[in-house]
Amino acid sequence: MATDESVLLEVRDLRTYFHLDEGIMKAVDGVSFELKRGRTLGIVGESGCGKSVTTLSILHLLPAFAKLEGDILLRLNKGERKGSVVNLAKLNPRGKEYQRIRGGEIAMIFQEPMKAFSPVHTIGNQITESIRLHRTRDKKQAREIATELLGSVGISNPAQRLNEYPHQLSGGMRQRAMIAMAISGLPSVLIADEPTTALDVTIQAQVLRLMNDLKAGHDMSVIFITHDLGVIAEMADDVAVMYAGKIVEYATVEKLFQAPAHPYTIALMNAMPSMNGRGERLASIEGSVPILMNLKPGCPFFSRCGHAVKGLCDRSEVGLTQVSPNHWVRCALANQTGQGAAI
Ligand SMILES: Nc1ncnc2c1ncn2[C@@H]1O[C@H](COP(=O)(O)OP(=O)(O)OP(=O)(O)O)[C@@H](O)[C@H]1O
Ligand SMILES: [Mg+2]
Repeated sequence: MATDESVLLEVRDLRTYFHLDEGIMKAVDGVSFELKRGRTLGIVGESGCGKSVTTLSILHLLPAFAKLEGDILLRLNKGERKGSVVNLAKLNPRGKEYQRIRGGEIAMIFQEPMKAFSPVHTIGNQITESIRLHRTRDKKQAREIATELLGSVGISNPAQRLNEYPHQLSGGMRQRAMIAMAISGLPSVLIADEPTTALDVTIQAQVLRLMNDLKAGHDMSVIFITHDLGVIAEMADDVAVMYAGKIVEYATVEKLFQAPAHPYTIALMNAMPSMNGRGERLASIEGSVPILMNLKPGCPFFSRCGHAVKGLCDRSEVGLTQVSPNHWVRCALANQTGQGAAI
């Protein structure tokens, strides 16, 4: 990564384990990916497969009983060390540098805006606080930037809205205000964790369009988490399909839809209501994501997989295999044929 300037963020062999009374939960278990400048990486998978923990690990927003290993390499985009690479996995999560990076280099928007906003402060106070932390100490100027930002995310009467509390805004408006707050520190990486799931379908479409406009206008790269392949098709350039704490398929969006290779990806595609009908939870893959503790050896999708071969898939762990340029798959059958399970 040090030499490839187009890579903004590289995650290498990330392992986030929760040390619980009942044992070790391997929420993220050996995840690697890279985010290139100007691109959107989509992370998709069913509930509980480790999407959120992966991105929460990047910002180190983890409980104390979580242990993190691996490398999280970020190319700094501002400040004196602009252009150099820091390993966030080795940085003090409570230190000054990390504080600057959260919001100033990498920002996050959540599924539920009430998580990001405090209910007892006005929207304006919260957005200006972020601006003053990352951009200017000047109160008046920060207020002006906040007004402009709220306007740019499509909120009418922004100056007046700044004086309102989060509960006074509608769901769609709150989501827009959270996006405004997230981009207020001019991050180069924006992580969006299911940012539209809680919204109704027409508002979802508007928010997705807004995110794409802002990405272009602010020169941001985006990590977009969703359970919805329809949204992936619309938003992502590259896609990581996650299952049971691991990436099982990693490809450009074109490759993924043209030639899905992992049986799990294919099952997700078959479970899509339609390419246009967004917003429904994936329901029709039989069985469920295993609990990520004391997993049996072999492929964690084994018990749900229509292609599984006894004695092969339930034996040992399988690595990611490259099946074509920009396309990797973690499947013993793909390893055998070199082409993926679908073919
Ligand atoms: N704070 C926590 N303590 C213990 N286990 C946790 C914690 N946070 C997440 N987990 C577990 O880690 C695993 C991965 O969770 P994660 O939230 O990353 O899933 P997800 O893919 O984001 O799911 P969803 O689509 O429901 O948001 C799950 O088994 C979850 O129960
Ligand atoms: Mg999640």
